[in-house]
Amino acid sequence: MVEFRFDIRPLFTQPIVKVTSNLLPHTFRGDRRQCLDATSKMSEIIDRLGQLSANAQKLNTPVTTAQRLRMSENQTIYLLADINQGNNGAVIGLLKVGTKDLYLFDETGQTRKVENTPCILDFYIHESRQRAGLGKDLFETMLADEKWTPIKCSVDRPSEKLLGFLKKHYGLVRTIPQANNFVLYEGFFDDGSSSA
Ligand code: ACO
Repeated sequence: MVEFRFDIRPLFTQPIVKVTSNLLPHTFRGDRRQCLDATSKMSEIIDRLGQLSANAQKLNTPVTTAQRLRMSENQTIYLLADINQGNNGAVIGLLKVGTKDLYLFDETGQTRKVENTPCILDFYIHESRQRAGLGKDLFETMLADEKWTPIKCSVDRPSEKLLGFLKKHYGLVRTIPQANNFVLYEGFFDDGSSSA
């Protein structure tokens, strides 16, 4: 459980909030001083969760930091919290997504440039809460919000746990080999009639 020295509840008026480059929860309303305070707290939350995700994946450098999000144009972080935990609430998980222009191999091995490819960039649920369906809740919220389907998502360096997650919840198994670190599933290039 990830607790902070400050009360997270004003930032989480709902269990899942969305954060983009302004480093404010999408639900946030406040004056300039309140915004500054909120962005500083949000930065701390994102940096801590990003570091925990990196630790879980044994990465030397976190994929997710507040600074990186601030500089990004088309990345979104979904954060999941439990406001009833302890005195200040606790943050439980993070899902970072974005779009990228990628050169990808299709099923026949031909290279295609795919603009605005939906990408799953970082995903983490705290160890104490894994395998309880919370990752699925966060992922489903993201899919609905972004209007994406799982089969149309590319996944950046998925861990074994994420591969298991995508297989279990979305039946995604057969991949299309790529030269980069992204994993694509069969059906990615289909016109939509057979989406998962
Ligand atoms: N070992 C193996 N598989 C696991 C584990 C685990 N410890 N935890 C979750 N899974 C997979 C399994 O398929 C599991 O189904 P099962 O219990 O029937 O075997 C399924 O996920 C459970 O689904 P949820 O409960 O909805 O998922 P959860 O809340 O655990 O979140 C997540 C999934 C985000 C992958 C989480 O396990 C996690 O944070 N793992 C550590 C960090 C990580 O590997 N993140 C992905 C990095 S790659 C990237 O982000 C592009």
